[in-house]
Amino acid sequence: MKVIRNIKELRAEIGQHRSMASGPVGLVPTMGFLHEGHESLIKRAREMTGTVVLSIFVNPIQFGPGEDFETYPRDEGRDLSVAEANGVDIVFIPGVQEMYPQPTKTKVTVSELTSLLCGASRPGHFDGVTTVVNKLFNIVNPDYAFFGMKDAQQVAVIEQMVQDLNMDVTIVPCPIVRETDGLALSSRNVYLSAEERKQALVLSKSLKEATRQLAQEEVATAGEVRNLLVKIISDAPLARIDYAEVLTFPQLQPIEPDTRLADTGKDCILALAVYFGRTRLIDNTLFQMKEGIPHV
Ligand code: PAJ
Repeated sequence: MKVIRNIKELRAEIGQHRSMASGPVGLVPTMGFLHEGHESLIKRAREMTGTVVLSIFVNPIQFGPGEDFETYPRDEGRDLSVAEANGVDIVFIPGVQEMYPQPTKTKVTVSELTSLLCGASRPGHFDGVTTVVNKLFNIVNPDYAFFGMKDAQQVAVIEQMVQDLNMDVTIVPCPIVRETDGLALSSRNVYLSAEERKQALVLSKSLKEATRQLAQEEVATAGEVRNLLVKIISDAPLARIDYAEVLTFPQLQPIEPDTRLADTGKDCILALAVYFGRTRLIDNTLFQMKEGIPHV
């Protein structure tokens, strides 16, 4: 496994892999502090591509003022062992100077999809994401890039960017990886106190219960589903809801409260962001209709 911190060297190394015709190039962009969610993306990339590039870069421009850029958890040594154990070919770990030698005057903005959910609570966040992902695509020129559905809005936004700007890369969305008790894995879970960690289970619990009730037709409309999510989450005294929304996916269009999800004719997302203290957790699940049957 090669560890590269410099863009020029990375391009040369990937050029060599291409000239050896070692199959398609896959990129897994991350901010490090790797867990099994990241590992699942690497494994998928390993299955689908000949050269797996893992990028680790805590991207300052996607953090707002007062967010956790400085304190974002980092552990390079451990990340490199995890990468090696999962068969990564090249780890790209640039410093901030390498990625932003001067303050960027060019930004990639995806409109509409970024004005709601996490985009509403974190202004400018998605501009930072699409800008850095665009830079990584230009640097690596991957055939495939792997993203987790944990950040479903990020997947929708990046897909939109790729289509709008005719980028020659296929986005591969990968399923959410959870702890055995249901909590979606996140680098930020380390911030939770023991009590917060316990109560944080209301996110996955509420999504699971909503899914069950949708399948049994105990709830059917967007309003009913939303109310159910809010009710279950509110059972946790430490939980402060940022949003609990039911939207079409990947269009992220609102659904009228009285409209049945099954009548939208589209896949729908149940999307949550909940604060525990200063830690903001997100989770989601998709409600898909296939031949009149909900698939979740
Ligand atoms: P980061 O939060 O490190 O996540 C990197 C990738 O891992 C993302 O695609 C994310 O959706 C995926 N991921 C995280 N937790 C997951 C889980 N529990 N199950 C499945 N996938 C999971 O997302 C970012 O970094 C950044 O915004 C980035 C795209 C790297 C741009 O800076």
